[in-house]
Amino acid sequence: MADAREAAEPVDEVELAIEGALRPTSLGEFVGQQKVRGQLELLLEAARMQSRTADHILLAGPPGLGKTTLAMIIAHESQRPLRLSSGPAIQHAGDLAALLSSLVPGEVLFIDEIHRMARSAEEMLYLAMEDFRIDIMVGKGAGATSIPLELSPFTLVGATTRSGLLPNPLRDRFGFTGHLEFYDEPELERVIARSSAVLGVELPSDSLSEIARRSRGTPRIANRLLRRVRDYALVHGKGAEASLGDVRAALELYDVDSIGLDRLDRAVLEALVRRFRGGPVGLSTLAVAVGEEGETVESVVEPYLVRIGFLGRTPRGRIAMPEAYAHLGVPHPDGALRLDDL
Ligand SMILES: Nc1ncnc2c1ncn2[C@@H]1O[C@H](COP(=O)(O)OP(=O)(O)OP(=O)(O)O)[C@@H](O)[C@H]1O
Ligand SMILES: [Mg+2]
Repeated sequence: MADAREAAEPVDEVELAIEGALRPTSLGEFVGQQKVRGQLELLLEAARMQSRTADHILLAGPPGLGKTTLAMIIAHESQRPLRLSSGPAIQHAGDLAALLSSLVPGEVLFIDEIHRMARSAEEMLYLAMEDFRIDIMVGKGAGATSIPLELSPFTLVGATTRSGLLPNPLRDRFGFTGHLEFYDEPELERVIARSSAVLGVELPSDSLSEIARRSRGTPRIANRLLRRVRDYALVHGKGAEASLGDVRAALELYDVDSIGLDRLDRAVLEALVRRFRGGPVGLSTLAVAVGEEGETVESVVEPYLVRIGFLGRTPRGRIAMPEAYAHLGVPHPDGALRLDDL
């Protein structure tokens, strides 16, 4: 997705090219997500054995966990061409009709951020997914008629960071939904080891685990931190090898704290703990307090804070958990709300 955290950083072409080079191209190279990987393997193999297009696939999970990468792998493994599009680019049913009618037989159509597609297009997609057919409206008012148009069979791969926003009829039309989880440290170490070989960085094992520990369970962040560490080692004259000291100095320079929280994560926690006295506080109020969009706070910042037990989402709003107080070095007030109270 157009991750606001990414957008806030200057992204240059070289960095994008490197990100491409770091993407695994087969399921075998794809680290972790064992469950989803196994499910996909079966689905793709069955389709291959019967020489048919694979069922439609929905990939859901926080930014940077590998949804786009998996979509590319699905096309690659099934040896089908891949067409890339995204929800925000499909603002009219006509946009989708043009896209669908130009697909070649068996093509994999990837729609990123599928929850942001226009409603009218969504309805057209239902029929396309089920019957490989769409109805095109011609004319207006009483004289309007619909002309059916046959489509080539295709596999839709949808990605979303907000599966809760997908309407049920759309969700139900996917043959399989893969929920991507945050990665554990050994998995992140494998991602970093693989990337460091691509980038030509030598990482002793303590450097490797330090970067993994601070990657917020997210391969994209692991790769980004690795690139900053590589820069640091290069500029400070140690060439290809990045020592633990280099890792710590580089990450401190970029405001990544000891457990990997960055400035925005900490701003959210600080606001919650100090300004709103631990909550509960509504998402939009919290977002305004840190000068961010509610959607960014909800889909980019919160999932990891919830996962590490720093933040609770309750029907009455967000609350800070005792672990968040401890991390910020603020005493936990006796009267503060806990999840069990709600
Ligand atoms: N399982 C994995 N093994 C190795 N590298 C991975 C893995 N998952 C992701 N990556 C790396 O992390 C980067 C980000 O992954 P990707 O772009 O697929 O995330 P995404 O889920 O599509 O994120 P967004 O929601 O922001 O679009 C990729 O460039 C890839 O190099
Ligand atoms: Mg993506």
